[in-house]
Amino acid sequence: MVRMKKILVTGGAGYIGSHTIVDLIASGYEPVILDNFSNSDRRVLDGLFRITGKQVPVYDFDCADKEKLSKLFLVENPDGVIHFAADKAVGESVSFPLKYYRNNIVSLVSLLEVLKDFSVPNLVFSSSCTVYGQPDNLPVTEESPVKESPSPYGYTMQVSERIIRDTVYAHPAFSAVLLRYFNPIGAHRSGIIGELPFGVPNNLVPFLVQTVAGIRDHLTVYGNDYSTPDGSCIRDYIHVVDLARAHVQSLEWLKENNGQCEVFNLGQGRGHSVLEVIKSFEDATGKTVSYRVGARRPGDVEQIWADVTKAEEVLKWKTQLGLGDALRDAWNWQQQLVAAGIKS
Ligand code: WQD
Repeated sequence: MVRMKKILVTGGAGYIGSHTIVDLIASGYEPVILDNFSNSDRRVLDGLFRITGKQVPVYDFDCADKEKLSKLFLVENPDGVIHFAADKAVGESVSFPLKYYRNNIVSLVSLLEVLKDFSVPNLVFSSSCTVYGQPDNLPVTEESPVKESPSPYGYTMQVSERIIRDTVYAHPAFSAVLLRYFNPIGAHRSGIIGELPFGVPNNLVPFLVQTVAGIRDHLTVYGNDYSTPDGSCIRDYIHVVDLARAHVQSLEWLKENNGQCEVFNLGQGRGHSVLEVIKSFEDATGKTVSYRVGARRPGDVEQIWADVTKAEEVLKWKTQLGLGDALRDAWNWQQQLVAAGIKS
């Protein structure tokens, strides 16, 4: 059994990172946060203290800075790393590909080199279902073909997975888990942490709750002429709290399985259309969503949802919260933001 106590969480002040910090502490781990706060806010740190009662050590610099990263490893001597730090906006990556290649790839290579220098054997990597593109068959399994990605962001996820696989192959003492997220939504039940909005949300649920809060005039449903039952796109929405727990289960798995590289789909294992999400939100909250149907969004996959059998059988993980729970928690979080005067 590999000792695993202190875990470096890069991007630990971000949306999924912060929820994972909560579960790490609840599970007896000692997390350390590395975040350059380019897409997160220091207010999250107060929230983490309020929820956990712990003051998590925080380092504020970019993962690509190998010198600072090495000094952090000297001081903290982590047993493993969960790597969230990356840019994740599909549309932005099309406009600024070099930002994505530098930040997502160089940071990962820098981190892997330092892991090797300090003989830290465990990595959990934040990947995405975007690697699949538009699947030929549904639900997608981990063996479903990885197609050429329509976006630089998706391609950086594919390249990152390959870089990690090659590193594990070359260094038998090194182990990694690659987690392919489907669509993370919702917030911690307390409403103390959640997805901090920066500008106009790209994603469906943040835009939906801002519309209901009166921050946006209306939600646009990007197309209802797809070959789906109600014509709108289908996705696999997963509560961020369930998603966070999968990272802790991955560390547990790594304790017993070194020298391996395994990939897991993380989703509900079922799809919901955009119009079903709207209906579920209205049922869960009693609120009405003002929406109009507009043109399709370029690059959108028509439908995708996960086969999560492997995560259930190998990681002993499955979702415990449903779409209604996530939408109710997303709305609760949005109301906390409004009460705190935080608009975007
Ligand atoms: C979901 C559905 C839209 C906004 C992206 C990334 C993915 C991951 C999650 C990082 C789609 C529709 C959306 C709106 C709408 N990020 N929609 N009106 O595109 O599935 O996934 O975010 O890992 O990698 O690709 O998520 O929430 O943007 O869209 O109708 O105002 O909602 O068309 O069908 P997506 P999304």
